Amino acid sequence: MATNENKPIFGRHLRPDFLLESKYVPLNHGSFGTYPRSIHKKFREFQDKVEEHPDRFNRIEVNPLLRKNREQIAEIINCPDPSDVAFVHNASMGMATVLRSFPFEKGDKVIHFNSTYVNVNATLRYLKDIGQIELVTVDIKYPLSDGEVLDIIRATIQQHNQEGKIRMAVLDAIIALPGVLFPYEAASRLVQEHGILSLIDAAHAAGQIPIDVSSFDPDFLVSNLHKWFYTPRGSCILYAPKRNQRFLHPLALEHNYTSEGNGFEQEFWNYGAHDHCTFLCVGPAIEYRKSLGGEDAIREYCHNLAVEGGNLVAERLGTQVMDNQDHTLIGSMVNVEIPLYPKTLRDDEVTTQFINKIIYEQNCMTPAFKHNGKWWVRLSAQIYNDITDFEYGAKAIEKVCQDLSI
Ligand SMILES: Cc1ncc(COP(=O)(O)O)c(C=O)c1O
Repeated sequence: MATNENKPIFGRHLRPDFLLESKYVPLNHGSFGTYPRSIHKKFREFQDKVEEHPDRFNRIEVNPLLRKNREQIAEIINCPDPSDVAFVHNASMGMATVLRSFPFEKGDKVIHFNSTYVNVNATLRYLKDIGQIELVTVDIKYPLSDGEVLDIIRATIQQHNQEGKIRMAVLDAIIALPGVLFPYEAASRLVQEHGILSLIDAAHAAGQIPIDVSSFDPDFLVSNLHKWFYTPRGSCILYAPKRNQRFLHPLALEHNYTSEGNGFEQEFWNYGAHDHCTFLCVGPAIEYRKSLGGEDAIREYCHNLAVEGGNLVAERLGTQVMDNQDHTLIGSMVNVEIPLYPKTLRDDEVTTQFINKIIYEQNCMTPAFKHNGKWWVRLSAQIYNDITDFEYGAKAIEKVCQDLSI
């Protein structure tokens, strides 16, 4: 991507736009995200404003600001009615909100995957432990084509719908580990065709891939904004179409909850005192993103860099990129097999020691994980990265692999 004057818009020179340490080589935007200084400044300004007069701000002035930011994010996910979107603090909370408030009936089954995010799986296990749901666990091993994923879901429905009702399916838009795109729109339609509600964990989606709720009409969708959209940590959206809103209540109920229900918008407006300022940064994040050319330009740069960077790392390590024949797995994250052959360490020790070594000895970061019998890293490409970061990353990964292959 280049400007008219041929000066690149994206790349390492954008690093100072962020608060990242100058010598740190960040290749793991996917875990916690981070956001530009200009948005950090706005965030702090909002927080200062709150403290100047907490009552005036929290009781009155925050309301039109929240509404405006909700309207802006609703437009980004193509949701014509902003009252179908609520702010929650993170994807773990958004997913737990749906799963723990939905009125499951005894014997209801929920489809989930071995790759479903750990916190979400913990909520599901809890609901199983208290006898609210039965779990249908789908084991998937990548690389898979989108068609193969859909076939596995179809076969699972055929097998398990006969022995009791499958009520809901938990579907990722982008899986955490491995960091691959999941055919979530087609999967959502597929389960809905069988009378199963779709709950989309789109934690990594906003800012990384387009979300169009009007076109694929999910039953519930949760997307972090603090991962890829450049808002401060603690900002996430929960979308539900009108038909499903009566099922949802915040994890901590608001004082004016009524048995008849008080309406989704009202209930999710003010569920206890908290810092709303993360939510107020949607507008500033959109402004920053537009200043760089907007969603498509950001997406294109990050995707191309993930592909190029992943190939480079695989070539340097003599391994492979996790890919399928249609090349549909890579968004802005890419998974590369690593030459890690631990002889004495347990898998959990490898995971922890890999992180400690790559952070403290290499001043870089990418998480290592085992999938389908092999060790991989998940590399994130972001607007502040360029190919030189992946060159550095390849050397850092190689050194850590050597150290841990003991
Ligand atoms: C797929 C997926 N879902 C949910 C989460 C949880 O996000 P949060 O930590 O913001 O709750 C993550 C975090 O990495 C994730 O990757």
